[in-house]
Amino acid sequence: MQSTTRDTSPDTMISAQNICKGFGGVPVLRGVSLELARGEVVAIIGPSGSGKSTFLRCLNHLETIDSGRILIEGDTLADNGADGRAQYVPEAQIRRIGHKMGMVFQSFNLFPHLTVLENIIEAPVIVKGMKREQIVPKAEALLRKVGLLEKRDAYPNRLSGGQKQRVAIARALAMEPDILLFDEPTSALDPELTGEVLRTMRELAQEHMTMLVVTHEMGFAREVANRVIFMDKGEIVEQGASDAFFAAPQHERTKAFLHNML
Ligand SMILES: Nc1ncnc2c1ncn2[C@@H]1O[C@H](COP(=O)(O)OP(=O)(O)O)[C@@H](O)[C@H]1O
Ligand SMILES: [Mg+2]
Repeated sequence: MQSTTRDTSPDTMISAQNICKGFGGVPVLRGVSLELARGEVVAIIGPSGSGKSTFLRCLNHLETIDSGRILIEGDTLADNGADGRAQYVPEAQIRRIGHKMGMVFQSFNLFPHLTVLENIIEAPVIVKGMKREQIVPKAEALLRKVGLLEKRDAYPNRLSGGQKQRVAIARALAMEPDILLFDEPTSALDPELTGEVLRTMRELAQEHMTMLVVTHEMGFAREVANRVIFMDKGEIVEQGASDAFFAAPQHERTKAFLHNML
């Protein structure tokens, strides 16, 4: 493995500095910076279209940034070149860095033609080259953890939305990521099904999983997240420890948003 110089604290899991990103010349991220520490749970909230998903997708390299710097556990993913535009490290390094992060999407993204168990073991087998006999017991343990071992051989279309999302979380965990990114994991769910997904996420937080969670669930942000970030129009407007953030938001835009949400 290539040795790279760390230039963040060993406990800094994500360091994103001054991230700028546009689509077709329209700026969507206008200098967003974030430091995420090991074991920290950070909630990102903000109105629709403020760039929350784009920001997560840039961290996970599902989108490329225009300028700025991204380090994952001290390893550079992208940094500004002499021309001030972001340059990415070579593909093999990108892939290695990518394996440190798992992502859970609003729309679950399970493979419909694979059973629950097969969904979970697919990436460890294909991407990591793990042996079935190695990964199957682990996948079963993860299914037990999210309370769905009895759905092992079911196809996704037989599951409720909440069950699908718990499978998606187990699938992300099967790759043994150091960081989990969630993009509105409960927004596609009927209200009565959000609780079971949030409970699973709360358990992960209690186990000190490092989590960055875009959410509309203010209860989750308040009770589970250590820190809350409010984004609007491609910028971080305000952030703070969750208690202080909800007790005394500082900016008018934050107050207006929370007023509409709570
Ligand atoms: N692939 C894309 N192509 C063009 N515009 C996009 C793309 N993805 C997002 N956008 C635009 O970027 C802005 C931010 O979107 P998004 O990051 O999805 O916001 P949020 O997740 O906060 O709702 C929106 O105006 C959206 O239309
Ligand atoms: Mg979004």
